[in-house]
Amino acid sequence: MKDASTNSNAKRMAGEAAAELVKSGMVVGLGTGSTVAWTIKRLGERAREEDLVFLGVPTSFQAEHLAIASGIKLTSLNQHPILDLAIDGADQVDADLFVIKGGGAAHTREKVVSCSAKRFVIVADESKFVQRLSRPVPVEVLAFAIRLVERRLQSLGGSPVLRQAMRKDGPVITDNGNLVMDVDFGTIQDPRALASKISPIPGVVEHGIFDNVDELYLARGDGVEKIRRSR
Ligand code: 5RP
Repeated sequence: MKDASTNSNAKRMAGEAAAELVKSGMVVGLGTGSTVAWTIKRLGERAREEDLVFLGVPTSFQAEHLAIASGIKLTSLNQHPILDLAIDGADQVDADLFVIKGGGAAHTREKVVSCSAKRFVIVADESKFVQRLSRPVPVEVLAFAIRLVERRLQSLGGSPVLRQAMRKDGPVITDNGNLVMDVDFGTIQDPRALASKISPIPGVVEHGIFDNVDELYLARGDGVEKIRRSR
């Protein structure tokens, strides 16, 4: 078992390594969470130190504010519908580069941004890497629809739990004004098949299974391993 500081060093290594992918003239999707935060901060440094000129598209309130504080110029998908690159963290990633995201409840925008990019890179420390995905799947849901969605998720074999806020009474409200259910499906044998059953449920805004990752920057030991999608 790794301690928290090892994890945070590993997050930093992976996050900063991916910042080197950004070149002048690019439009880049900026993910959410503590690993990609290192990417965003490093990109701010590179913009100052190397005259790197690029635009960022943030995936959340957190990413937007960190990018602004880091001195990164921002744009929107309306202005730049096709991104050169998107970089983001993950809650779990398997050997086929299927990913579970949404630990920070930002997976809907993260999916829109990553699907708008020509290349999608995940940054993670080794603790996230598994043979088979097994974390509860975050599902963003319209508040109006939670009872219907709950029943449909149960009929797929899942155990949904409405995510509660930590320092507010009541549920987490996403940046889009919706709720989040964390749905335990046990070990997920076929992530793509499960994803295709969750998506059409009326009231589901987006789920946290991602099948569009091109490359993983995985901090392992003293280095960062780069794993490309082979499927
Ligand atoms: C937010 C996410 C994050 O990318 C994911 O939770 C990983 O976060 P961290 O890098 O802090 O471990 O999907 O919705």
